[in-house]
Amino acid sequence: MKRKINIGLIGFGNIGSAFAAYLISRKNFLKQKTGIIFELRGIVEKDVKKVPQSYRHLLFPSVEKLISTPDIDVIVELIGGIQPACKYILGALENGKHIITANKALLAENGDEIFQLAKRKNLYLGYEAAVAGGIPIIKDISQSLISSQIESMLGIVNGTSNYILTLMETDEISMAEAIKIAQKRGYAERNPSLDIDGIDSAHKLAILIRLGFGYSPEFTKIFKEGIRCISHLDIKYALELGYRIKLLAIAKKNGRRIEARVHPTLLPVEHVLASVRGVYNAVYLKADLVGEMLFYGRGAGKNPTTSALVSDLVELAR
Ligand SMILES: NC(=O)c1ccc[n+]([C@@H]2O[C@H](COP(=O)([O-])OP(=O)(O)OC[C@H]3O[C@@H](n4cnc5c(N)ncnc54)[C@H](OP(=O)(O)O)[C@@H]3O)[C@@H](O)[C@H]2O)c1
Repeated sequence: MKRKINIGLIGFGNIGSAFAAYLISRKNFLKQKTGIIFELRGIVEKDVKKVPQSYRHLLFPSVEKLISTPDIDVIVELIGGIQPACKYILGALENGKHIITANKALLAENGDEIFQLAKRKNLYLGYEAAVAGGIPIIKDISQSLISSQIESMLGIVNGTSNYILTLMETDEISMAEAIKIAQKRGYAERNPSLDIDGIDSAHKLAILIRLGFGYSPEFTKIFKEGIRCISHLDIKYALELGYRIKLLAIAKKNGRRIEARVHPTLLPVEHVLASVRGVYNAVYLKADLVGEMLFYGRGAGKNPTTSALVSDLVELAR
């Protein structure tokens, strides 16, 4: 076990800034709990105006410089998107750095090379923050449930869509109105397409499939239909018939085949996933030894995502 871990951070946005603040303000707390010092050693951010004065001494001029600095142990990538994130992570791995990332899009669409290189180089690749925020689903599947064969996974893994559907039901409003409210409250991007078209859910599903079934699905082959076409009347009539509409990410093992799809689904109101409301996420999983399990919690946001990132850091250090 290493006594000190030096961290290089790429991306000082919503999550990166919260993660950096945590590392600095909770350094002693983490040391007391783990016996390890986690040191934020360097930051690269495209828009340096975003970086407050108190962090400026940590700024590096380029990612290339950060990932080639010898005493940095791990690179935490928090810029999102496929490129240049992919190039940065591969470069860091080539330089012998461990990786922690929250980048579900990259791992789902272009993950093979990254997973393979990390394995070949015997380096840690942590991605707890990429799926379902603060819910420790990655570690549960890869560690606690390692003895079981997973049979199926049903997930509400996009908090934005779930929030919009919940609001359409409780406030009896249209999708456009619900999206506006979600945007105002910071739960939806200005362009909400990734969320409401099911793409973000499919990214997380692809990662869960790789982990749960040991198979790397071709992202384009995952069926994706989002909630864009759901009207408030659909929701009302479904409820009258005893159903709630939920955007589900579904993976099922079917002999040697794996079924993978994302689409709005009618769930009986008494189904455990039908009561997952607002921005919350849940994954309902069936596995041969343990039977049915439910994982529930906050799927995004600064604090839950920071919690997941720090859990990877501690796992790496141990
Ligand atoms: N937000 C959440 O709740 C959440 C939850 C789970 C996972 N995630 C994942 O966490 C990652 C970060 O999300 P976020 O919400 O923090 O995004 P964000 O607020 O947009 O932050 C990304 C930051 O990285 C900067 N950046 C972009 N390209 C860069 C480059 N080449 N070099 C250096 N800096 C660069 C951006 O600067 P500019 O703005 O100037 O481009 C921005 O400041 C994404 O992969 C996301 O999917 C987010």
